[in-house]
Amino acid sequence: MNTQALAVHDNGPEGVYLRGSGAAREWWRVSLSERAHMFRIEHGHGAAGSGAVDIDTVVDLDNLEAKLLKWRREGFVSEAGREDEARAVAAGSRFAVELERAVELQREANRPVLPEAVRIGNVAMPPAPESTPSALVPRINDAYLFTARADDIALDIVENRRVMLIGHTGSGKTSFIEQVAARTGHGVLRANMNGQTTIGDFVGFWTVKGGETVWVDGVLPVAMREGYWLIIDELDFAEPSILAVLTAVLEPNGRLLLKERGNEIVEPHPSFRLFATANAAGAMSAYRHLYQGANLLNEAFLDRWRVYLFDYLSKEEEAEVLRRTLPALTPSIAQTLAGIAADCRAAFAREDLASTFSTRRLIDWAELMLRTGDVERAAGPAIYAKVSAEDAALIRSIIRHHAIFDAGDGASG
Ligand SMILES: Nc1ncnc2c1ncn2[C@@H]1O[C@H](COP(=O)(O)OP(=O)(O)O)[C@@H](O)[C@H]1O
Ligand SMILES: [Mg+2]
Repeated sequence: MNTQALAVHDNGPEGVYLRGSGAAREWWRVSLSERAHMFRIEHGHGAAGSGAVDIDTVVDLDNLEAKLLKWRREGFVSEAGREDEARAVAAGSRFAVELERAVELQREANRPVLPEAVRIGNVAMPPAPESTPSALVPRINDAYLFTARADDIALDIVENRRVMLIGHTGSGKTSFIEQVAARTGHGVLRANMNGQTTIGDFVGFWTVKGGETVWVDGVLPVAMREGYWLIIDELDFAEPSILAVLTAVLEPNGRLLLKERGNEIVEPHPSFRLFATANAAGAMSAYRHLYQGANLLNEAFLDRWRVYLFDYLSKEEEAEVLRRTLPALTPSIAQTLAGIAADCRAAFAREDLASTFSTRRLIDWAELMLRTGDVERAAGPAIYAKVSAEDAALIRSIIRHHAIFDAGDGASG
């Protein structure tokens, strides 16, 4: 109804009806008359109630309704209606804002939950195939310390480069790859070339099962097909036949030819990665005499890899690893122990010691020390019993030196 459209409020037709603004403002005021069922209507200009009233009369309801209709056509709007409208507009925009927020929340809720890109250093790593069996994913070692070199190697992994880590035993080569895999959820297979892995283990072999001759894939084709990471440990001890098979696979997307299986071709899964560790290859070949039986890997072969030299951690880094692994250790004890390890390695480099001092050995010794409360007693099974009597004597004197003079830098060496 028209009156309703004009008088939005529900208190009847009484009220002020306005047109225009400022000096051009014009109004009608409707109020109840003293006479029953009659309405007083007034007309004026300017603010309602302040300006002179030029029309002031009394009408009945029928008459009033006709007037309300006319005013509406002329552009008058009830003041209450205007306020309601303003409120509606304000409420409307608030609603719109809230609706927008609600839509955003709903979208958020509907968004598939993607795993956050795992970062190693500053590098976002590719996710593992969903089918990766969790038993093959190494466990995260929270104490593992990624040093500055991690970024470059992580990028190589992203770019699908073949990565070889060379360095003394226990410098963290294998665990580096395992810890990257652990954090990115990749499955890892390992093949140790130091006397344990045959070409059959590596590539595969035919066998008889239940009267039938069946082919069993070796670690290389399994990793290639399933998209696992394969770590070839101590590659410088590998048989020539294994190195020959490897060479073909070393190209990015290099395929494996299984001659034994009628020249079946194994395509690499996009997640497949190949790693090697070596003690005495390349820049480490000066130490070949320490790693009996290590073969010299030729340069053409090495050129197919990105080769990283893994030194032992610095004294500060190693003290931090000790503290992270064994939070009960005080900073000064961790410093002292890291200093002892550093001195033993220096003696090893000078060939005063025949055995090196790995991070693994250091952690083990510290762990035993926390159990026994006795430096010497802990050193027995962790160090002395593993080395020659001469080495044990020299290591003992290095330990005494540090234990007596404590962690101060001047005490080392
Ligand atoms: N950066 C590191 N952070 C924490 N622990 C380390 C680190 N590097 C080496 N370690 C410790 O030393 C142990 C031996 O390392 P590993 O990777 O097996 O050496 P490698 O393969 O060079 O012989 C690891 O299990 C780990 O406990
Ligand atoms: Mg290793």
